[in-house]
Amino acid sequence: MRLVINADIEKNQISKYIYGHFSEHLGRCIYGGVYVGDDPEIPNIEGMRTDIIEALKQIRIPVLRWPGGCFADDYHWQDGIGPKEQRPSMVNKNWGGVTEDNSFGTHEFLRFCELIGAEPYINGNVGSGTVREMRDWVEYMTFDGKSPMADQRRANGQEDPWKVQFFGIGNEAWGCGGNMRPEYYADEFRKFNTYLYNYGDNKLFRIASGASDNDYNWTRTLMDRIGSRMDGIAVHHYSVAGTWAHKGSALDFTEDEWAASMKSSWWMDELITRHSAIMDEFDPEKKIWLIVDEWGNWHDVEEGTNPGFLYQQNSVRDAVVAGMILNIFNHHSDRVRMANIAQMVNVLQSVILTEGTAMVKTPTYHVFDMYKDHQDATLVDAAEIDVPAYKHGDICIPAVTSSASKQADGTLLVTFSNADPCEAHKVMIDVRGKAVHEVQGQVLTGDAMNAANTFEAPDTVHPVPCEGIVTEDCVIQVELPARSVVSLTIR
Ligand code: AHR
Repeated sequence: MRLVINADIEKNQISKYIYGHFSEHLGRCIYGGVYVGDDPEIPNIEGMRTDIIEALKQIRIPVLRWPGGCFADDYHWQDGIGPKEQRPSMVNKNWGGVTEDNSFGTHEFLRFCELIGAEPYINGNVGSGTVREMRDWVEYMTFDGKSPMADQRRANGQEDPWKVQFFGIGNEAWGCGGNMRPEYYADEFRKFNTYLYNYGDNKLFRIASGASDNDYNWTRTLMDRIGSRMDGIAVHHYSVAGTWAHKGSALDFTEDEWAASMKSSWWMDELITRHSAIMDEFDPEKKIWLIVDEWGNWHDVEEGTNPGFLYQQNSVRDAVVAGMILNIFNHHSDRVRMANIAQMVNVLQSVILTEGTAMVKTPTYHVFDMYKDHQDATLVDAAEIDVPAYKHGDICIPAVTSSASKQADGTLLVTFSNADPCEAHKVMIDVRGKAVHEVQGQVLTGDAMNAANTFEAPDTVHPVPCEGIVTEDCVIQVELPARSVVSLTIR
């Protein structure tokens, strides 16, 4: 394969928010993952795990979505403020029917965002909430003056308002968020949105609940009926190797299932292309962001764990999928301006797993680390020529995906994902419009398709320096091992 990079042909900026994450009150994502309260065994800052904070800072998480997901449309924020012993409990009906004690609420989430250096993305409750409740939440968080909500915030220990830009008006309104039709949801959006005020210099970025997968009618209806009242529209797509009833194991899988995961992930390219084409009809200037605020591999839960907790292991397969999908997002970054992998800790395709005091960085974590310099860099023109195919049974997809960006100092980051689990592929990179002085690479792979990091062996899969890079003038040759993610830094 050849990759011709025209480093001097600059496209759009790759929004850093594409590298965002999602955290829901689901299983052990918040409780045990992020928040351990006053557990003396686990080092923490105000109840937030120190090991998690350090690990997340390293990958520079730009934005974190909370509190759901389906949980968002059953969440009543006022239950999660004030003295913890006085906070009412609720039953988390969406996820395992467990009791939620509301000890992690608005103050704790916004403090966690400060600790990891991420911007908050709060998802409001349309399904079972009221307009007043959502309106008051925004006033509670962002109003500087004197008002019942702002005074209550101060009484609860937060003098200054927080800066909260990203605000979701419902989640999966077509499903767990109220089972609405798009026409009805569009009207609901317009109504709720009317009462979400900007206070002072806090300008809300209003995000509509978008389509599931290829529900293009949903996108068309919202673009038509909501239009520029929304700033972003949030599509969801999960990659599934089997059926929703039998998704397949995270670690014990065949090449058929590997290939099916890759195909389901590659579908992201078509989904974005087609949703974007509809958005272009209504918004040719691309002012409204296409946001993919839930994506990732969804496998069966680990044996012996609560089926409602969605806890799954993470392998080289997940890393290759993350590498592919992040490359796809970069390619479409003129329209895709935010994405949030589901979910950050202990749920679905996590970057981190915890068990008591122990913490493991998953293969997916390392991909976010290898790709982090794409954040806010400039996408450059890059032509993929003679891309090898990965064929397995009826499945045929490109084996290699790539993307290239340029940082302010002219350094290029080029990332590759090789979805072929059996074959290595050679790439000849022709760099034009820039001199090549130094090339450094990292490669992430495993000795098997299901190689993973466990609590017993937490470093089995991790990036190592890429050997065998040959550079001659401006031509770089590199081999992408089977089932790998590779990043090259070109100075
Ligand atoms: O991420 C798990 C769930 O998947 C979310 O709560 C929901 O929005 C989606 O269906």
